[in-house]
Amino acid sequence: YAKFANVPKNLQSRTPPYAKLLANLEKVKKITNNTPLTLAEKILYSHLCDPEESLTSSNLEDIRGKEYLKLYPDRVAMQDASAQMAMLQFMTTGLPDTAVPASFHCDHLIVGKNGEAKDLPSSIETNKEVFDFLESCGKKYGIQFWGPGSGIIHQIVLENFSAPGLMMLGTDSHTPNAGGLGAIAIGVGGADAVDALTHTPWELKAPKILGVKLTGHLSGWSAPKDVISKIAGMLTVRGGTGYIVEYFGEGTSTLSCTGMATICNMGAEIGATTSTFPYQDAHKRYLQATGRGPIAEAADVALNEYGFLRPDKGAQYDKVIEINLSELEPHVNGPYTPDLSTPISKYAETSLKEKWPQNISVGLIGSCTNSSYQDMSRVVDLVQQAAAAGLKPKIPFFVTPGSEQIRATLERDGIIQIFKDNGAKVLANACGPCIGQWDREDVPKATNEVNSIFTSYNRNFRARNDGNRNTMNFLTSPEIVTAMIYSGNAQFNPLTDAIKLDNGKEFRFQAPTGDELPQKGFEHGRDEFYPDLEPTSNADVEIKVSPESDRLQLLYPFDAWSGKELKTTALMKVEGKCTTDHISAAGVWLKYKGHLENISYNTLIGAQNKETGEVNRAYDIDGKGYDIPGLMMKWKEEGRPWTVIAEDNYGEGSAREHAALSPRFLGGQIILVKSFARIHETNLKKQGMLPLTFADAADYDKITAGDILETLNLVDMVAKDGNNGGFLDVKVTKPDGTSFIIKTKHTMSKDQINFFKAGSAINYIGNIRRA
Ligand code: F3S
Repeated sequence: YAKFANVPKNLQSRTPPYAKLLANLEKVKKITNNTPLTLAEKILYSHLCDPEESLTSSNLEDIRGKEYLKLYPDRVAMQDASAQMAMLQFMTTGLPDTAVPASFHCDHLIVGKNGEAKDLPSSIETNKEVFDFLESCGKKYGIQFWGPGSGIIHQIVLENFSAPGLMMLGTDSHTPNAGGLGAIAIGVGGADAVDALTHTPWELKAPKILGVKLTGHLSGWSAPKDVISKIAGMLTVRGGTGYIVEYFGEGTSTLSCTGMATICNMGAEIGATTSTFPYQDAHKRYLQATGRGPIAEAADVALNEYGFLRPDKGAQYDKVIEINLSELEPHVNGPYTPDLSTPISKYAETSLKEKWPQNISVGLIGSCTNSSYQDMSRVVDLVQQAAAAGLKPKIPFFVTPGSEQIRATLERDGIIQIFKDNGAKVLANACGPCIGQWDREDVPKATNEVNSIFTSYNRNFRARNDGNRNTMNFLTSPEIVTAMIYSGNAQFNPLTDAIKLDNGKEFRFQAPTGDELPQKGFEHGRDEFYPDLEPTSNADVEIKVSPESDRLQLLYPFDAWSGKELKTTALMKVEGKCTTDHISAAGVWLKYKGHLENISYNTLIGAQNKETGEVNRAYDIDGKGYDIPGLMMKWKEEGRPWTVIAEDNYGEGSAREHAALSPRFLGGQIILVKSFARIHETNLKKQGMLPLTFADAADYDKITAGDILETLNLVDMVAKDGNNGGFLDVKVTKPDGTSFIIKTKHTMSKDQINFFKAGSAINYIGNIRRA
């Protein structure tokens, strides 16, 4: 593996450790008798702490979806909202620095309203305490600090850190964006990030592999966004659960690197563990354009001499779907769920049938999903076509660049000016309206009137963008959003329809064209937005957390398990969709991410009570009503542990660990549901909760709020180290004293049982480190 030593020093920490990975892969191949592996398996298994210990079978069928893998990721990225809790947890371990390179990205806490000049200073002022906290953590522990205005975590990761064969964790659910550059990048909670940061094996149930075969090539209006929009429609928000999505087929070589990133980004919307692409020329071009040519050379060696970075011939996928890119038409997904997918040719008719608003009120493009040079150059082509015809946008139009590098490049190439000249508002390089930081003026939050927005973002749960539950967010490509702003009407199909001009003539858009990469290369941008890429730790740096602060609060360990069966009361039965936005709302609550007590006042406030139909309402034993966190707090004070009952895909959406931390903090012990979203189930286990699923989903109907739920064989299950999953009997006692037993399922591994016993994963890691 001598050739891998040629990478220059300044890129070494950003180059996947190919020599080590290939040596590990050789061991894996021996264990699996040279069974052909998918690309995802190659990358994942090459990061096993100890292949001999992890892979107990030579048969991949016995591993996928069954074995727990113990992995050492190469890198960690954290966004400002989730990094606070990750760091507060890391601090409790008492370690002096991080075991792997890591970075902070201040992107979620920046308001989108008036553009960078006004929004950035006001956001910095509002969040100064948090940014200062993260900056001092960066200095103390040697973590890169990408400050406010530097850009969105996933764009910066793609531009600087992602690489073919890398494995990284990110404390954000759209971390899979990095898979667009051939990495395995997984969205996790802060406690998982702490595993990687402390060189504690990070555990993941070996995912199954969903192969997506791409044939043909995109043309005209169709964009990479449409690939994943279509897949979301085919597979639904649950279709990817337990899977890594691996793209293959000749169509993969026709996509740009940033286009592949868009596709991987939104793999989170189908619940996939992550998504990835095989190493392509487009990856090489992107690495070269972003100053990482030597990493591409190392990747070439890994591919050409060792067959890494692409699947083995004959590799088997658990499922395969096929998309012909040549036949793909633009799609519009929404409202309120990313899997309600409508081809553009059907949108007008469907919008009438479904009574969606016919007037579109705002168009927003950019975000981590769609702010590449290719996206923006295609969009600006449309803006210029419209401008040449004398057309102006009919509705407000917002543009969010993903990073300082992309913004500076767009500015140098005149694209920002064209946007501004044509009425667009260019916001700071940050998440802004994508995560409820949109200080929206055109529609009041409290209105009951439904309005419709078109965005090139990735997620469209109720109230996500502007805090208004009546805003219908339709997700589509930046090209379609842009064309729609010139009509402002849902009946307009830019592929076929004309817009009437003031002079009586008709204007039709031509299909957009653009450049994959900037012809003059990327522009570096303003220096103040770049951190030291090789920071070192400094034990002398003091991290201050004021006891008076309402933004930050030091953590105190949760109680260890008592060693006895759990006896809880059913606090409420949640009806229908319950995402992490319902469990731990964002928007105004984002500012309390580092203060567990304060943020816990948002727990489940978006959830609907199955028994009464009310949102954020639960009832005490005596029938008195409370808001949900209010009742949780009351029961916590009374020493009444509780269970929440819910339906399918509970915790769908983001990696938000507060959705697990807050229930635990407020005295919850069990979450019993029909099914879980993967990240959330893991987060619950990490915080010492017991996540259970109904063995028979019909039992959901037999339980009502106020019932007593007692585990019957938890002690035995713990004694057997969880057995990597199994059944747990729960006795349900009704208020009238009648009782029955239901079967539930758990998926606890040996390590997760240890978290449960210690009270949380952090308690467990801390115990080991101190010993
Ligand atoms: Fe930020 Fe929205 Fe992406 S919140 S990280 S721009 S999904």
